[in-house]
Amino acid sequence: MHVHNYEKLWLLASLALIVGFISTIVYGAVGAGVVMVNDEGGQVNASGLSEHPEFNDPGVRKVGPNEYEAYVVAQQFAFSPDPIEVPANSTVTFYVTSRDVVHGFEVAGTNANAMVVPGEVSKMTVEFNETDEYGVVCNEYCGQAHHDMAGEVIVKEPGNFTLDDAGESTTAQATNGTDETANGTGES
Ligand code: CUA
Repeated sequence: MHVHNYEKLWLLASLALIVGFISTIVYGAVGAGVVMVNDEGGQVNASGLSEHPEFNDPGVRKVGPNEYEAYVVAQQFAFSPDPIEVPANSTVTFYVTSRDVVHGFEVAGTNANAMVVPGEVSKMTVEFNETDEYGVVCNEYCGQAHHDMAGEVIVKEPGNFTLDDAGESTTAQATNGTDETANGTGES
């Protein structure tokens, strides 16, 4: 069977397109480092947050060299703590839950963007490499003042950062085995 050269060219071009499309989808799914927020953050009793070992005192904890955890509570119509302060060159895992209704938690300009559901903990990790300020927005309609519900993440120079600013609890809390905690162990 004779296939015309132009016909071959078009076949090749359409084949290249298909391979190209599949490649971008595969890259987006596994190569770009995009992860969905799943249920690994666990569950909490939304009406008992004041008894929760972490959410009773929302804030930032140091859990390793350049590694932090930020416990954040959303409620009508604010995030706590606000601002959330972390040092540059750090990896911060956010644990966010809601005290009342469904909210959103998006650190604008980063990969952190999740729905915040009462009783559930949304867990997401962000690397902050440079000093900067990010807006935190609620992007689920949560009531009359939804449009006013905003917060801030401030990424500070490591030398200017202390956990006191960040809302570190002054009462000792053993969070896990790798916890270094304690004020004053930080860079200065
Ligand atoms: Cu909280 Cu909208």
